[in-house]
Amino acid sequence: MQSRKGKARKTLNILAIETSCDETSVSCLSLEALPNSEFSNKFSNKFPFVTIHSHKVESQTVSHIPFGGVVPEIAARDHLARIEFITKESLLEAGWKPQNISHIAVTLGPGLIGSVMVGVLFARGLALSLNVPLLGINHVDAHLAPAILAPEFNPKIHLKKQLKLASENLFPALALTLSGGHCHLSRLENPFVSKIILGSTVDDACGEAFDKVAKLLGFEYPGGPEVEKWAALVSESEFVFPKSTEKLEFNFSFSGLKTSVLDCVRKLSGSHQGKISGKNLPPEQKAQICFSFQNAAFQQIEQKINLALKKWPGEFNCLLVAGGVACNKNLRERLNNLNIPVQYAPLSLCSDNATMIGLHAWFSHVNGFTHHPFSKYIEL
Ligand code: KG4
Ligand code: ZN
Repeated sequence: MQSRKGKARKTLNILAIETSCDETSVSCLSLEALPNSEFSNKFSNKFPFVTIHSHKVESQTVSHIPFGGVVPEIAARDHLARIEFITKESLLEAGWKPQNISHIAVTLGPGLIGSVMVGVLFARGLALSLNVPLLGINHVDAHLAPAILAPEFNPKIHLKKQLKLASENLFPALALTLSGGHCHLSRLENPFVSKIILGSTVDDACGEAFDKVAKLLGFEYPGGPEVEKWAALVSESEFVFPKSTEKLEFNFSFSGLKTSVLDCVRKLSGSHQGKISGKNLPPEQKAQICFSFQNAAFQQIEQKINLALKKWPGEFNCLLVAGGVACNKNLRERLNNLNIPVQYAPLSLCSDNATMIGLHAWFSHVNGFTHHPFSKYIEL
């Protein structure tokens, strides 16, 4: 807590930890209430100044590549082996000593249980030893927090610089979260309250479908960026895959699309029994399959957003987009053509990272946690 002109300025120095899947990430952030802004249990119009002092993300991709996907047991052990070192590195990069930490924020879920437990137990031990509060954060909610960050955050340029969160003019917002485990279209009144989910996936998440199609075509894990790369090699395709049915209204479904790709690969490769693989298909066919798959997946997403804009005309000030799939440039081009301003999470903060956990911790803290069942102090 700092004092300026006799008036209390409230600053949180948050050490944030993310270990829910296959990234071990630790960030140090200072979030400072703007002058005249008070912490209270009700929504405040004020958004804080943010300084990201360190942003460490260690991907475990290399450990999982031989298996074509994340192996939960390996993920948990990798986190265990790295968490202490990465935390020390993050503190070093920030120029912080442990005594500078005022709060610890940690992903409480959803995620792979072994991975989550490593982060939570490490954070709990640290919080106990430093006698600082611990904030448990919902990972999926946290994905949206960087989309509220303005301007673009590039760790090579913006580390240690004071940034401002975008204004309340963004709200109410329509929010799209597309990751490997989740797919949500929501209404977000403001970042201090829980989002209202309008629709979510009834089967596979969007990123998961990209990963499965990539695996089928023999690409390395993680598959999303590979599918995007191959799709960009062609501008048309002889294959047509289905969008989802309109009956689902705001809910998403990607498993029918995935099965159509599987059927197509089965026919093209001539494999009727055993393992179906498109690894040896001609490159032109692989590129066309990626093109048509991506096209159908994103058509579905556009369809849901257009439906929301039609159902609630003029209701939303912007569309917030976050999660790993939001890295996809083709998706961004398409969403930019919709009839709503779009604000994306910075590319560096789309995939899993601890900075988003620290940012979301601010909103939970100001809110007094009452509307965030996951975001409360964990009993120490
Ligand atoms: O948000 P995230 O890092 O982790 C989860 O919370 O799941 O998202 C990872 C997902 C993976 O499925 C990955 O293939 C996908 O995001 N992804 C992409 C792209 N980059 C990452 N999907 C499509 N195009 C991309 N460029
Ligand atoms: Zn995630």
